Amino acid sequence: MKEKNALARPDQGLQRPGFSSGFGVLAATLGSAVGLGNIWKFPYLTGANGGAGFLLVYLLATLLVGLPVMMAEISLGREAKANPISALQALAPKGQPWWLVAMAGMLAAFLILSFYSEVVAWVFAYVVKALRGSILSSDPQVTEAAFGALISDPLQSLLWQWAVLVFIGGILLMGVTKGIEALTKKLMPLLFLLLLLLCAVSLSLDKAAEGLAFLFQPDFSKITASVVLTAMGLAFFKLSIGMGTMMTYGSYFRDDQNIPLTTLRVMSADLCVSMLAGIAIFPAVFTFGFAPAAGPALVFITIPAVFSQMPMGQWLMVAFFVLAAVAATGAMLSLMEVPVVILHERFGLSRPKATLLTLSLLLVLGASCALSNSALADFKLFGLTMFDLFDFVSSNIILPAGGIFIALFVGWVWGAGKFRGALTNHGQLANEKLANAVFFLLRYVSPLLILIVMLKGLNLF
Ligand code: PHE
Repeated sequence: MKEKNALARPDQGLQRPGFSSGFGVLAATLGSAVGLGNIWKFPYLTGANGGAGFLLVYLLATLLVGLPVMMAEISLGREAKANPISALQALAPKGQPWWLVAMAGMLAAFLILSFYSEVVAWVFAYVVKALRGSILSSDPQVTEAAFGALISDPLQSLLWQWAVLVFIGGILLMGVTKGIEALTKKLMPLLFLLLLLLCAVSLSLDKAAEGLAFLFQPDFSKITASVVLTAMGLAFFKLSIGMGTMMTYGSYFRDDQNIPLTTLRVMSADLCVSMLAGIAIFPAVFTFGFAPAAGPALVFITIPAVFSQMPMGQWLMVAFFVLAAVAATGAMLSLMEVPVVILHERFGLSRPKATLLTLSLLLVLGASCALSNSALADFKLFGLTMFDLFDFVSSNIILPAGGIFIALFVGWVWGAGKFRGALTNHGQLANEKLANAVFFLLRYVSPLLILIVMLKGLNLF
């Protein structure tokens, strides 16, 4: 029972930081999960995919696929205490190339960061716009024009993205991630409170009931195969799984951390934030005549309308975008961690060099997303701009496929005994039944479900 770390590890010589307290683990993991996925992606996808039906499928995907895969990833990471490539190499039988999953994950990290950094760029720009007061309006034409002007301006789009990349690079290079995490921990409750306030205002709007009905009364005819795939992709994106982020964070988990409990807490808190964002946005959508299917613009054009209805709306809106940027920072740091730790531990680069290399690549890849609504608007592959393509390929293909392989790896290669050992902390927690149930899901249910949803959603079957 004492030999949990008896595995030969390729990176044993390297000092690994690790989280010092149980609360630190929860906060950092939550910091990775909560981000623009809640405030930006969840509302816009829900709006574009018909509302409550999408939400229902998203919830099911989170429970049946998201939770088990998240537990699997964290377990693998903690057991191997190494970056995802080394972890999968150490845990797999010799010669089996499971580490390829981690390589795909690294690619996903680059794709996600490329468009994510652009959305954070919009958030940064909106802090300034909010300060100036120019966007505080409930007139769709005004808020849509403001957003349109921003994203169709190539220079602004690029410069704000560079600001974001320099900001994240600065945090990593100055080695202040711990400080930032501590700050995030303090600021997240504020975001939560502000969202509650927004919800209260939004619920008092004329057509609040219509907004709520859209969000909570499913219209099953709207659930198509591609809607299901999008909802499942969101579940992966939201929980930061299928690409090694949670494996990496798991490698910093302490041995006495309760993995299922941490996972459940992160999932619940994450869901709460998304629900609040939805409740804040959809009543306003219907009251002021926005289009629910406005796409990536949705939050940026509707949130100003809600703030315009409250006292001190301008200042609260500044706070909102600052807090959104803070939430996004935790997610971006966790995304950066995947390539950086792989380049550092596997390819022998120093951490600063690994960070700089990652950032340089992002400067190039990211520009193709930053310019997707202006200079490169007509540059499309498979009918999608680079922004949409990177989003689609990462969320709907790489992450779910990664999920299949992680589930299969734990279910068929790593095995019940080791997985149970990880979830029960080698017999110290009395959650064996839960561990067995999750193992069953991983072995049989999740991989099959993901595969079917992918094949159907991509029209391959
Ligand atoms: N979960 C983050 C969010 O919702 C995004 C993310 C995806 C972070 C994948 C890490 C890995 O904003």
